[in-house]
Amino acid sequence: MEITKICCIGAGYVGGPTMAVIAQKCPHLTITVVDLNQERIDAWNDENTDNIPIFEPGLSAVVAETRGKNLFFSNAVEKAIEEAQIIFISVNTPTKTYGKGKGMAADLKYIELCARQIAKVAKDNKIVVEKSTLPVRTAEAIKSILDNTGNGVQFQILSNPEFLAEGTAISDLLHPDRILIGGDQTAEGQKAIQALTDIYANWVPRDKILTTNVWSSELSKLTANAFLAQRISSINALTELCEKTGADINEVARAIGMDSRIGPKFLKASVGFGGSCFKKDILNLVYIAKSYGLNETAAYWEQVIIMNDHQKKRFADKIVKTLYNTVAGKKISFLGWAFKKNTNDTRESAAIYIADDLINEQAAVCVYDPKVNQKKILSDLDYLETRSSQENAANVQSFDNPFEACQGAHAVAVLTEWEEFAHYDWKKIYDAMQKPAFVFDGRNILNKKEMQKIGFVYHGIGS
Ligand code: NAD
Ligand code: UGA
Repeated sequence: MEITKICCIGAGYVGGPTMAVIAQKCPHLTITVVDLNQERIDAWNDENTDNIPIFEPGLSAVVAETRGKNLFFSNAVEKAIEEAQIIFISVNTPTKTYGKGKGMAADLKYIELCARQIAKVAKDNKIVVEKSTLPVRTAEAIKSILDNTGNGVQFQILSNPEFLAEGTAISDLLHPDRILIGGDQTAEGQKAIQALTDIYANWVPRDKILTTNVWSSELSKLTANAFLAQRISSINALTELCEKTGADINEVARAIGMDSRIGPKFLKASVGFGGSCFKKDILNLVYIAKSYGLNETAAYWEQVIIMNDHQKKRFADKIVKTLYNTVAGKKISFLGWAFKKNTNDTRESAAIYIADDLINEQAAVCVYDPKVNQKKILSDLDYLETRSSQENAANVQSFDNPFEACQGAHAVAVLTEWEEFAHYDWKKIYDAMQKPAFVFDGRNILNKKEMQKIGFVYHGIGS
């Protein structure tokens, strides 16, 4: 089968950037990214590429270079499926909020919808690629739907999980550590693997393109996220002990990270990891293990989430305790709302949970984030359903300027590791705050000694 056209279902944080990079590196291919969400598609098609729906360093330039040439964003889902030889499924796979597996299992309803739509529309053989993160053995369900509801055409299903991290998506896509492709061990399966390998080989060295069976590929994605999150929970699990004993977590991380077996990456202590995937993927892993009766395996991985929840809670508690056990009526200013720097994504951000706890204590929360606006902040809080939208709106205010956000505050909490925060004129912020002026550095990005010299009462994480 000659590959000329690709369709990607899902124009989100993965579908958009991934397809933009494929389009840039494969000018001989035509790529259409489709989505049911008209607003999102319109934003991807905005004349000014600075207004595309996702902020990612370097992304708008790649979109400007390719869009309208060989990269298209559309809501004509069926047409794009029909014309393509390869269809990537890149839709969301959130945690189920109902029924069996509620709060743990992955909700596969969007995946199933895609499979049914592909089956209905396809009039010739297609390669269907799982790009979304899926429970191990999902390909079996997709295949069953395709084979039983299709028009008699052949489908090959590949698992090709995405490992990009937000904030560095373009560079991760351009220089991936590896590309993982799982496929059937049959001759047809191997041909499909080859077709996808040939696409990536346009810019990724062949020795970095790893092929496995489908189940190993599906499980490797969940495992990679579980290991990464586990490292953060492991270092965070020691922060409380550092605070009790006078050890400094930054020094401990440096000391252990120099052991080449441990390595220095992903050892930054923090207020807790956020993002759309770590929590949902680990919960999914836990659910799968439990469903096979593997209770010790499930409990082992669940602890990573328990530790992360504890870290967020303990941060909010520490603010209250330090501010003389009451924050009622006090202004607490947040620097950062996004779940990490260089993204406008706020899903599962620690800031949401800390704000929620502080509002429960009747604090007035003021927020500055360079990429997140008031509407998003309020919708994140409303999503928790702790209180009414009106109450959230009455207790949280966002500012376009960090100095205004901190004006008159009793405490500042640094919740995202945006680099600009470390370069502010902190003396100016100090002068405009209530005294004593507290700073809670949830990312350890400020210089403790300098902050203390200015006059701040400084609290880092484990330092
Ligand atoms: P997202 O929510 O940003 O985007 C998903 C898009 O799919 C949405 O715009 C939604 O409207 C669309 N969609 C859902 N059902 C559809 C349908 N039937 N037809 C057309 N469009 C449909 O999600 P995301 O962050 O891009 O994540 C997608 C998948 O990739 C998830 O499984 C996630 O676990 C995985 N993943 C995400 C990241 C990341 O950094 N965000 C990294 C690696 C893997
Ligand atoms: C993560 C993985 O890194 C990607 O490989 C994966 O593809 C993706 O999940 C996914 O499947 O969605 P992402 O969540 O975008 O990527 O960002 P990370 O850089 O992993 O950061 C996650 C969270 O951990 C952030 O809140 C970050 O601030 C926090 N973190 C990270 C720490 O607290 N300490 C660290 O040392 C590293």
